[in-house]
Amino acid sequence: MTHGSIGAARVVAIRVPAIAVALALAACAPSSRAAVTTRSVTPAALVLSRPEAARRAAALAAIGRRMFVDPALSASGRMSCASCHSPSHAFGPPNAEPVQHGGASMHEPGVRAVPSLRYLQVAPAFVEHYFESEEDGDESVDAGPTGGLNWDGRVDRGRDQVRIPLFSPFEMASHGPSAVVEAVARAPYASDLRALFGDDVFARDEAAMRAIGEAFEAYEQTPEEFYPYTSKYDAVLRGEARLTPQEQRGLDLFEDPGKGDCARCHVSQLGLNHELPQFTDYGLVAIGAPRNSAIPANADPTYDDLGMCGPLRTDLARRAEYCGRFMTPTLRNAATRQVFFHNGVFHSLRDVVEFYAERDTNPEKWYPRGPDGHVKKFDDLPAPYRINVDMDPPFGRRPGDPPALTPEEIDDIVAFIGTLTDGYEAARH
Ligand code: HEC
Ligand code: HEC
Repeated sequence: MTHGSIGAARVVAIRVPAIAVALALAACAPSSRAAVTTRSVTPAALVLSRPEAARRAAALAAIGRRMFVDPALSASGRMSCASCHSPSHAFGPPNAEPVQHGGASMHEPGVRAVPSLRYLQVAPAFVEHYFESEEDGDESVDAGPTGGLNWDGRVDRGRDQVRIPLFSPFEMASHGPSAVVEAVARAPYASDLRALFGDDVFARDEAAMRAIGEAFEAYEQTPEEFYPYTSKYDAVLRGEARLTPQEQRGLDLFEDPGKGDCARCHVSQLGLNHELPQFTDYGLVAIGAPRNSAIPANADPTYDDLGMCGPLRTDLARRAEYCGRFMTPTLRNAATRQVFFHNGVFHSLRDVVEFYAERDTNPEKWYPRGPDGHVKKFDDLPAPYRINVDMDPPFGRRPGDPPALTPEEIDDIVAFIGTLTDGYEAARH
């Protein structure tokens, strides 16, 4: 246990400024996402000098909360953000479908699994070269492509991201900004938007869309709903609970560079300023998930979801070295999901962890065989891009080697990931 020396009071203390910063910045800073990660920000000063900003942020978030569940914003009149990002499933998918169906008919299949919207509040803006803070005196290392939203990091801020589902033909499928603005102008919360942005807020579509985007973003920055830090593991880090022996073994394996090495990407330790870990470094990495034939788009053998290099993301389409890279998701609340990875190819956490352990030692278990009997490893990536796949532990062993984790060790890691589900603290009281 490496966290033993951290006093509970210090860990708890960081929560209050985090809330205050998010509320203040959601309202007043044009680049709230990046600003939240800036270590030199003085939250107390910001908030005390701007009580008005905090009130405004809270009012905006309240509007965002109502829009989030409003099916009137969709072409079908039957779909809201919450249809896919279920509030009772950590804002992840409500079911085991690899992709959800939307569009005007509600029959149009999506192409990717629905990510959780929790713990994105400190996701940095997308950069191709990410350098860790140099405060700890280390040489800065280029962590590679990092940050942004969506599985491919193609948009940075909630206010811009929201246009994607609102207009996507297989999601809410609204016919452009004017349709959304009209629906919002008729909604019961329209007067609240007028109160914040002026009586003429709906007069111009672009201005109205900006206001709507800000409200969604403010809602997505609400701590109680989007980053509550109420898991058992948070209680453990605060010194208020203890892991069971199995969960503790799981944590040790999760962090051991010779075993799971999961923490290499899914950060598990307190940050430099004792901030609670997000269980992701927001890095975009290729891990070679098997192709999922249950996604209708995959029936076309020439269709490949290559993540960072397209097709949904277009600015890096020519960067072959990025093909196959997808966002590292948080593992907080992963135990509540029924689909895993960007293509929803796995349906249990145990399968996911087993895949990590056996991808390179037993590829025949995870990938289909071609007509010649050859295992088609990394079958969801065209051959030229397979060199992009990560080969460091727990990967990188040879066929026939013992897997990095035994079946019991896989169970232990799954048990540990179970401690990352929010709601533990409430359940105890
Ligand atoms: C039909 C299902 C569906 C609906 C409806 C939907 N989303 Fe999503 N959402 C997704 C999928 C799938 C992704 C991943 C998309 C990608 O990677 O290209 C996503 C990604 C996101 C992300 C980025 C998450 C991350 O991990 O980076 C945010 C934020 C988001 N959605 C917010 C919303 C909001 C706000 C609404 C309502 C206006 C909404 N979504 C409606 C399916 C949906
Ligand atoms: C090299 C970085 C890296 C390492 C090491 C790593 N992961 Fe991941 N993890 C990722 C990426 C990237 C994804 C998304 C991949 C995709 O969708 O194609 C992911 C996805 C997952 C998911 C699915 C979550 C979801 O919401 O769909 C789970 C569970 C998971 N990892 C657990 C683990 C465990 C357990 C370990 C250690 C045995 C581990 N990871 C090691 C990068 C990593």
